[in-house]
Amino acid sequence: MIDFKEKIAKILADATNLNEKELESYIEMPKDSKNGDYAFPCFRLAKELRKAPPVIANEIKEKIETTPEEIEKVEVVGGYLNFYINKDIIFLLFLPNKIPDINKDIITKEVLNQIENNKDNYGKSKIGKGKNIVIDYSAPNIAKPFHIGHLRSTVIGGALYKIYKHLGYNVTGINHLGDYGTQFGKLIEGYKLWGKEYNIEENPIDELTKIYIRINNLCKEDEKVLEECRNNFKKLEDGDKYCVELWEKFKSLSLKEFQKVYDLLGSEFDSWNGEAFYSDKMPEVIEILEKTGKLISSQGAKIIDLEDKGINTPCIIEKSNGSTTYATRDLAAILYRARTYDFDKALYLTSYEQVLHFKQVFEVAKLLGIDKKYTDGLQHIPFGMVLLPTGKMSTREGKVIKLEDLLNEAIQRAKIIIEEKNPSLENKEEIAKKVGIGAVIFNDLSNSRVKDEIFEWDQILNFQGETGPYIQYTYVRTKSVIEKAGKIPELKSVQIKELLDEYSQNIIKLIYNFENVLKQVTEKEEPSILARYLIDLAKAYSVFYNENKIITENKDTQNARVYLTYAVGQVLKIGANLLGIEMPNKM
Ligand code: ARG
Repeated sequence: MIDFKEKIAKILADATNLNEKELESYIEMPKDSKNGDYAFPCFRLAKELRKAPPVIANEIKEKIETTPEEIEKVEVVGGYLNFYINKDIIFLLFLPNKIPDINKDIITKEVLNQIENNKDNYGKSKIGKGKNIVIDYSAPNIAKPFHIGHLRSTVIGGALYKIYKHLGYNVTGINHLGDYGTQFGKLIEGYKLWGKEYNIEENPIDELTKIYIRINNLCKEDEKVLEECRNNFKKLEDGDKYCVELWEKFKSLSLKEFQKVYDLLGSEFDSWNGEAFYSDKMPEVIEILEKTGKLISSQGAKIIDLEDKGINTPCIIEKSNGSTTYATRDLAAILYRARTYDFDKALYLTSYEQVLHFKQVFEVAKLLGIDKKYTDGLQHIPFGMVLLPTGKMSTREGKVIKLEDLLNEAIQRAKIIIEEKNPSLENKEEIAKKVGIGAVIFNDLSNSRVKDEIFEWDQILNFQGETGPYIQYTYVRTKSVIEKAGKIPELKSVQIKELLDEYSQNIIKLIYNFENVLKQVTEKEEPSILARYLIDLAKAYSVFYNENKIITENKDTQNARVYLTYAVGQVLKIGANLLGIEMPNKM
């Protein structure tokens, strides 16, 4: 759909040689449509151009070139330039206050045309063209369980990844694996001592965790062992063959485990550069920071004080034993990503436990000498915890439920429900997978992300609730309606007048608004807006289904209603897929 604000900004920029983005920010939407659909207040330019606003308005008007199919006319009223959008296409805009005035016929026709022409690409857009987005998500830690705390990052980040892409952005998804740090020195030591006792090939994460706990206890008792562990890490950094080989083994075994979860969730990444990738990129960061004179020594460590930025805890760049920190690696990553991806926005998806970390890192990043564009583009996107009915379960607490187990449990539970509701269904296994996983994903995305989330099986899998299965169930219903009708009617057989009733129009308005919903998601980095929208659409369809006879004697009525049913199914599917949920054809 056309973004007229952008279009007008472009026209103005061509006429004035001023910055398009800035011009766009001045454009207003007049309350009274007598004054046009958009207005540009020329007094904004009076100072810069040293002319009176009405003079500027007239001068710009002279230079402006518009196509009447889009912009009907441009008028000068006082210091304003008023733009009138061609009424035939005004419905292409999302102008909430104007919708009631618009001919229902035109919107309905347009919506159905768009569905017909775009198929699975409905809602795609060019607004992201030329803009680079980096999304840092999932990022579990090697040799540690991939637990439910990482689920939210994976699912929210994954949804944003797909939605940005749908809107035409160039997106890079990065899995910033936790594969670095002194704990690897410990693991190497533990493995050296007792490796034979543990079957890490068979069950890597569990066994490595056991080794880690054991060696940690020994370190507490024996200073010499701790020293050895530190040595190992140093050796690892220096490229010692034995240490590197072991580390690689731990890493590849862990990744194989993680991949099981990613396969279940359908997650994708463009880059797997984890923390270790930055080990040779940190000296540059330290060098740059040193030159700023802001890197100070404190109790043997090197820190940046952030007191004057309103952050009470300093950012530690190098520990007293000379090793670098999580923050230093993130700083090196910012430098690397700015250079490699030239990002307009870089999003970091972690729980709100890391709010302070990112505040510090983003503040220190301003000292790296990179363009302000990059530091302005850094955004931490925090989310709440997952609470189990049995109590809190945070990323930092010991009580850990493995995500793989949780997802498999979801599939099993979905299977039991399906078995009960539809015992003769074919491919139950495959459908249970879509329903179970879809339920977990939807639950994670339907609440606003900063809220803590309560995880209750009965609620998540309730087919009648505001859940993933409900969306899937509605989709399946659209499929069976089409099946009953025999086929999807041809669009040219659809008479718009059959769809002007209240229930059909509610659906039309929602479908019409789809792209705008996706835009809102990216403005707020909030996939729950799309999840809520899908619930609204599914509900609107249920009402339509209950109030209107779809399969009926009157073929004109039937064709129109079946086509609308098809349109609903399409949007439910596209929307759910963007959230990472797969749709079954039957359930
Ligand atoms: N591995 C970290 C954790 O599990 C998350 C990493 C997030 N990304 C980043 N660039 N710091 O807490």
